[in-house]
Amino acid sequence: MAEEVLIRKRRTVENHILAIGGGKGGTGKSLITVSMGICLANRGNEVLLIDADLGTANLHTFLGLEPPRTGLSDFLTKKKTGIDSIIIKTGINNLKLISGAQDIIGIANLSYGQKVRILGNIKKLDYRYILIDLGPGTSFNILDFFLISHCGILITSPEPTSIENTYRFTRSLLFRYLRKIISQKVVRSLIDKGVMQRGGHKFHSVFDLLEAIEKIEPELGDTIARYLSSLDIKLIVNQTRTTRDRAIGQKMAMAARKYFGIPIDFLGNISYDSNVRKGLLQKKPLMAYFPHSKAFQEITEICQRILPRYQLGLGFSADQRSSNQISGDQWRG
Ligand SMILES: Nc1ncnc2c1ncn2[C@@H]1O[C@H](COP(=O)(O)OP(=O)(O)O)[C@@H](O)[C@H]1O
Ligand SMILES: [Mg+2]
Repeated sequence: MAEEVLIRKRRTVENHILAIGGGKGGTGKSLITVSMGICLANRGNEVLLIDADLGTANLHTFLGLEPPRTGLSDFLTKKKTGIDSIIIKTGINNLKLISGAQDIIGIANLSYGQKVRILGNIKKLDYRYILIDLGPGTSFNILDFFLISHCGILITSPEPTSIENTYRFTRSLLFRYLRKIISQKVVRSLIDKGVMQRGGHKFHSVFDLLEAIEKIEPELGDTIARYLSSLDIKLIVNQTRTTRDRAIGQKMAMAARKYFGIPIDFLGNISYDSNVRKGLLQKKPLMAYFPHSKAFQEITEICQRILPRYQLGLGFSADQRSSNQISGDQWRG
């Protein structure tokens, strides 16, 4: 039975947590989370999907399931509920699901304590791959889920608004990360002041911020560079239709290196595919409805690129740190 609650025995499998996010809704995060989960599960990996789009959770729909009776909301509101007890079967071998929080007003704004509890429990779960589907926006909840993952995958569509949001998301992510790793009060307040500037950030690029930090704490620059280089951020462009669309990913990756000083690993394009909608109307995942669809083939290839796994990024060197004003246009390349 699909909704049977599973009690899992603790094992000691090293898990890999992948967060699927990006600034904008409707780009295909949920579709890609489910499809990648199925690909990885089909290869014999134990996979857990977590629906952390707390406002509008819908992974179950992509899996052709009715809204689950249990989910993150139970875990959040009932202190005695363990995370194991909200994991449900999906009907697909090796693939389990923690559904989102539904029908709790204000659940999208988690308290700090709730967030710590969820994040701490996710880290302990014994699955080979844990895929977290995130909601849109750049709230701290979303950025923190992205940051606890071993690998964060940004999903954008080729539309300028989506590219712009991906850029904003990445900038917010890097600032949040620096705010968390740096203990010096004076530097933290510098970041806070920069982030709280009216009409956006005082520091347009990470290089601007680093320059300002180095003026206060000259030796901190290299430490920060090391931390940034350990982030593993990847990018997928979804719903591509034209040759021009298919060139966007590489340009965004190059712009990320130039303006953020971080390597973003472009994983590939996924074509717009009308079968996705047909599958949803039939309440079936794309691959069950149409396993040979172009989109699913492309998702399979992307999964193969992820499997060899998690090389560390290259980071940036001091000579790359030219201070640049960055706009969405520059990011688009
Ligand atoms: N490659 C694609 N081809 C066709 N339709 C797609 C594709 N990717 C996503 N969609 C459709 O776009 C809509 C939004 O996708 P969804 O995964 O819910 O986005 P998000 O989770 O980012 O909000 C859904 O109706 C989905 O079926
Ligand atoms: Mg979604």
